[in-house]
Amino acid sequence: MKEEIQNYYGKELQKSEDLKTNACCTLTPPPLHIRNALSLIHDEVQAKYYGCGLTIPSMVKGMKVLDLGSGSGRDCYILSKLVGEKGVVVGVDMTPEQLEVANKYVGYQADKFGYKKSNVSFVEGNIERLNECLKKDDKFDLVVSNCVLNLTSNKQKVLEDIFYLLNEGGEFYFSDVYADRRVSQELMNDPILWSECLSGALYWNDFLRLAKMAGFADPRYVESKEITVNNEELQRKLGPVKFFSVTYRLFKIQNLETDCEEYGQSIKYKGGVEEMPNIFVLDDHHVFEKGRMYSVCGNTYLMLNATRYKDYFEFYGNFEQHYGIFEGCGTNMPFKETTTNGSQAMACC
Ligand SMILES: C[S@@+](CC[C@H](N)C(=O)[O-])C[C@H]1O[C@@H](n2cnc3c(N)ncnc32)[C@H](O)[C@@H]1O
Repeated sequence: MKEEIQNYYGKELQKSEDLKTNACCTLTPPPLHIRNALSLIHDEVQAKYYGCGLTIPSMVKGMKVLDLGSGSGRDCYILSKLVGEKGVVVGVDMTPEQLEVANKYVGYQADKFGYKKSNVSFVEGNIERLNECLKKDDKFDLVVSNCVLNLTSNKQKVLEDIFYLLNEGGEFYFSDVYADRRVSQELMNDPILWSECLSGALYWNDFLRLAKMAGFADPRYVESKEITVNNEELQRKLGPVKFFSVTYRLFKIQNLETDCEEYGQSIKYKGGVEEMPNIFVLDDHHVFEKGRMYSVCGNTYLMLNATRYKDYFEFYGNFEQHYGIFEGCGTNMPFKETTTNGSQAMACC
């Protein structure tokens, strides 16, 4: 499908509105610090945004970031602003037309952000062969990707490569499309459905299995939205399959377990993370008020203690005594169907 995808994103689509789904619309507007960064990004870069979620976690200042399938560079430029002049952002994409737009604004965006020298670079390459386009031994603190993994044919390899490229304590924070069941081969053979990020979508439970096999023991679901298809012919072909755009965060932490285990540990958020002064959000069901004590499983403890968040929490307990399975972490089937009542506003892209 490589040529079809390149043709679709390089020639067929000219702007976000040309997509045949609502994938790049969000139910709620992005947070203020992202909106502020977006207001500084050139219109042409934003017009060719084809992502399906917010792929930027909190506290990225100073980080070295890799964006897989960076397209026209929108997320790279938001990150360029947020990591600061000392941070580094590298975008990889295989479509020359998208890279041309991204590269055109490297100097413009550096000026807009008040940087002496740009901290962004774009590389032409296939994310299924990252060893051919990245510098040998290059490692990253954060890998992001927006609506791209579904377009790849060897998802297991991409996940394994990301795990390898991350520094210990780093994370893969990304949005992609998932299906509520395995997609049939007939749908997978359809180049439009594939290029529209639908038929290459993994069944969510297969994704969890592949992510764990790649080393990401405990994928954390952040948010999701059901995708609607605005095209009758495509809708008919898809039949009953439901698609969701979902943001996950996958930490690379050596001692994470595949289940949430109870060790009698607790944490307290001290405050101080700029974007979340009073309430710290780790994922969909781990939301911590400042100053309040919470019992956590061993994995959540490590996601806060073995990462950049460490200094912002107080930690109680250790891993010496195991008390069985932790019951507070919920299940892994997180997607909620969107209940549109007509009055619900969609903030497009
Ligand atoms: C849906 S668009 C998303 C672009 C960008 N992330 C955004 O949010 O606007 C998918 C992008 O992934 C790129 N892409 C797809 N498969 C790729 C691969 N195997 N290697 C590199 N880039 C790929 C396409 O060229 C396209 O720019």
